[in-house]
Amino acid sequence: MNLYTRRRFLRTLAVSGATAWAGSQLGFLTDDSPAASLMRSQGGVLDLSLTAKTGRLSLAGRPAALYSYNGSVPGPRLEIRPGDHVRIRFTNRLPELTNLHFHGLHVPPSGNADNVFLEIPPMEGQIYEFTLPQHHRSGTYWYHPHVHHSIARQVWAGLVGVLVVRGELDEIPEIRDGDEEFLVLKDFELDANGELLTPDPAPQIMEGREGDLVLVNGELNPTFRISKDGLLRLRFLNASVARYYRLQLEDHPMYLIATDGGPIEEPFEMRELLLAPGERAEVLLRGERSAGRYRLMNLPYRRFNMGAMGRVGMMCGMGRMRGTTISSNEPIALATLEYRERGRPLPLPSRLVPVEPLPNATQVRQVVFSHSMMGMDGNAFTINGSSFDPERTDTVVKVGTVEEWEIVNGGGMMMDFDHPFHIHTNAFQVVSENDRSSRFRAWRDVVNIPMGESVRVRIPFQDFTGRTVYHCHNLDHEDLGMMAVIEMRA
Ligand code: C2O
Ligand code: CU
Ligand code: CU
Repeated sequence: MNLYTRRRFLRTLAVSGATAWAGSQLGFLTDDSPAASLMRSQGGVLDLSLTAKTGRLSLAGRPAALYSYNGSVPGPRLEIRPGDHVRIRFTNRLPELTNLHFHGLHVPPSGNADNVFLEIPPMEGQIYEFTLPQHHRSGTYWYHPHVHHSIARQVWAGLVGVLVVRGELDEIPEIRDGDEEFLVLKDFELDANGELLTPDPAPQIMEGREGDLVLVNGELNPTFRISKDGLLRLRFLNASVARYYRLQLEDHPMYLIATDGGPIEEPFEMRELLLAPGERAEVLLRGERSAGRYRLMNLPYRRFNMGAMGRVGMMCGMGRMRGTTISSNEPIALATLEYRERGRPLPLPSRLVPVEPLPNATQVRQVVFSHSMMGMDGNAFTINGSSFDPERTDTVVKVGTVEEWEIVNGGGMMMDFDHPFHIHTNAFQVVSENDRSSRFRAWRDVVNIPMGESVRVRIPFQDFTGRTVYHCHNLDHEDLGMMAVIEMRA
């Protein structure tokens, strides 16, 4: 990080007075939303106003000039249930275009629902509206902006929030009676004045930006409490632009109960949990140790390396390549777990929620993520050889069918990167990773494709027609073009 040339990210926040106030015609632009940290649906409806704005907030006890939803980073947590109707009166008070994406939700990708092709100009508004299907899986989802070329920067600046679907997993008695915490993992980097720092476009941006301030819910090393002999459910969201988290809790195994796309069938014991950008996971912890304090560690993970040409260049003495070390190569304490006195003893649940197996695919495709370097900053990050073009449709699928995609990390000449694959609207199941079949069935909407590997997924296209996207969730890669358009047809 210290090699970055830095520039100020938030320069002029003033918006031209000539901008049309379309929002006031919608009657909600003047409504400055109160800062509530949790908004739950009531009587089957969640109706709220959400404003993306600039401002100075407190981040890890320091002042910080950020972007936020309703003045808080992360934004308010939204909680809904299957069948609920959601209506968001959204206002853009940023000095640039933005929009909203509901990451992981199975809702229409068109109209004013989860439509990432909508772009809301500064000082204008948009009502987002959709009904969650009755059969929607419970889980930890999230919302963030999705304007191509700006996603990484706006997420980096603070525009992230959790969107929870409460349902069958929440009704399991041991889980219902245990404690629950949300951990939004996101890094930042600030200068002495609290201005957000951002790397210059090339070449550092190719790696994806990481900051030295690694926070949980905007706090530095917060403490969470677990009851002796009780159960604590941790719901993780990796809301970072590019940073991976390799989580380990001192002296405690973690029992995975849900991946991205919802609950799994039974708790799965893990010593370590790797979360790629955009990915979520839920684990249970048992209060099974002696009272004390235990650290939740983030362990080193190497997500990029020199490619073949880069190694040849090194051997031929063509100058030094950076990129084999990055800030995530040091263990960091992210949070602390502290025991409190005995609550109600709770066992681990033995069964969770069935995950239906998918039938064989009717169509098989190969999707190759790769990149080349043309000159100093002509980076071409591609899927199947093409860089994102919103006008072009790359993949056409039929609603009601199941497809199997082999997603290949094709690497690059000078550098190799991991790429977290993500698709909108429909979750998938991983069939195999580099020919190792999956250890358990699970619904996902993000899966990491490590350097030199490939992953096979099975995707059921259900319910909704329309155009949407799939992409790399290293958001700098996405903004550099690693995104494609999929059209779901009847
Ligand atoms: Cu988290 Cu296309 O998004
Ligand atoms: Cu998404
Ligand atoms: Cu990538």
